[in-house]
Amino acid sequence: MKPLWIQHAAQLATISGNNAPRKREEMSELGIIEDGSVWIEDGVIQAIGTTEELIKQFGDRAEEADIVDATGRLVTPGLVDPHTHVVYGGSREREFEMRLEGATYMDIMNAGGGIHATSRMTREATEDELVEQTSRRLDSFLKHGVTTVEAKSGYGLNWETELKQLRAAKRLNETHPIDLVSTFMGAHAVPLDYKGKEDEYIDSIINDMLPVVAEEKLAVFNDVFCEVGVFTPEQSERILEAGKKLGLTPKIHADEIESYGGAELAAKVGAISAEHLLKASDEGIKAMAEAGVIACLLPATALYLREDAAQGRKMVDEGVAVAISTDCNPGSSPTTSMPLVMNLACISMRLTPAEALVAATMNAACAIGMERKAGSLEVGKQGDVVMWDVKNYQELQYLFGVNHVDKVWKKGEIVVG
Ligand code: NIG
Ligand code: FE
Repeated sequence: MKPLWIQHAAQLATISGNNAPRKREEMSELGIIEDGSVWIEDGVIQAIGTTEELIKQFGDRAEEADIVDATGRLVTPGLVDPHTHVVYGGSREREFEMRLEGATYMDIMNAGGGIHATSRMTREATEDELVEQTSRRLDSFLKHGVTTVEAKSGYGLNWETELKQLRAAKRLNETHPIDLVSTFMGAHAVPLDYKGKEDEYIDSIINDMLPVVAEEKLAVFNDVFCEVGVFTPEQSERILEAGKKLGLTPKIHADEIESYGGAELAAKVGAISAEHLLKASDEGIKAMAEAGVIACLLPATALYLREDAAQGRKMVDEGVAVAISTDCNPGSSPTTSMPLVMNLACISMRLTPAEALVAATMNAACAIGMERKAGSLEVGKQGDVVMWDVKNYQELQYLFGVNHVDKVWKKGEIVVG
């Protein structure tokens, strides 16, 4: 493979610094290089600087390389989506209409729809069908500048199907250009046949599922939907602690629909991240800041459910490292557009354009343990790069609802454009 040499970027937003979650004013540091240039070889970034600097270093090898002129363009790291439910069967457009007619998200779920509906369709799909349906969604992620994606199980709600989802994700990680990081989420809902016997289902997660997930290295993280009517904070804690003993790092869907102590629990169990947090309490936000839990905020989900977004501004100001994500799933956020999520982070959560970019790159990478490979443009990292058809990072957030992706490279190879 030829080396890739990008030259003359109007702005090269490197997001360089230490590979750790960015907080407060660090969230505004983009490490911008004007007239920027990057040299990628063997899939890895070998040098980065001004075009002039790189000409000194690589000028005599110019003929070997694929040269890309980024004049007038913004260049950033590939975006990272740290929270998705992208591996699923079927779709739920009828529920979208039902919600517009007045039904709530939880009404639909409690009547056997919602997550249960997708669970039925995912159980019916073969592993090959899941791979094929998910692969098309991953193509769409790439077209939106996303090169690394977290993927949760949780539409099986029985062992056979949870395993099928995790195996599909593993295959996609090997075959699709996108890097997929897996999370086990057997505790996404109480299966309909376990209604009233929730603790029996939890026992089966702890005794039957988690040990195999850990043993076969099918996931890195263990997630729970801690919500009124789903899993209580006590039940969630049991599941997350059991995973921890097996080496699975906790994540938690917290305080999405009601304030339920989810943010506090995330701090208590030492979760790497807590997600949603629309109704997180002030104490919960403080506890997360103190414990170093990353807030993974999903403003497209809030919009889609017609709810107020999480208090992103307040969280940044209180010292919580904020990441953002699509939550890509068939019910509450059927989108693959991280650029839209960045726009919404500004519009509905009052993050600044720079903070939104850090939340979608370095902080997102940290939320899924990918910060040594992705999240910034630095020597030694993967050559995951996006060239945008805008001249600066402010314009990327300002011209909203439009896909400005011009070209995308994954590990130095062109995958879009
Ligand atoms: O993150 N909140 C729970 N789970 C998903 C939605 C899943 C679905 O509706 O299929 C979420 O929003
Ligand atoms: Fe989710």
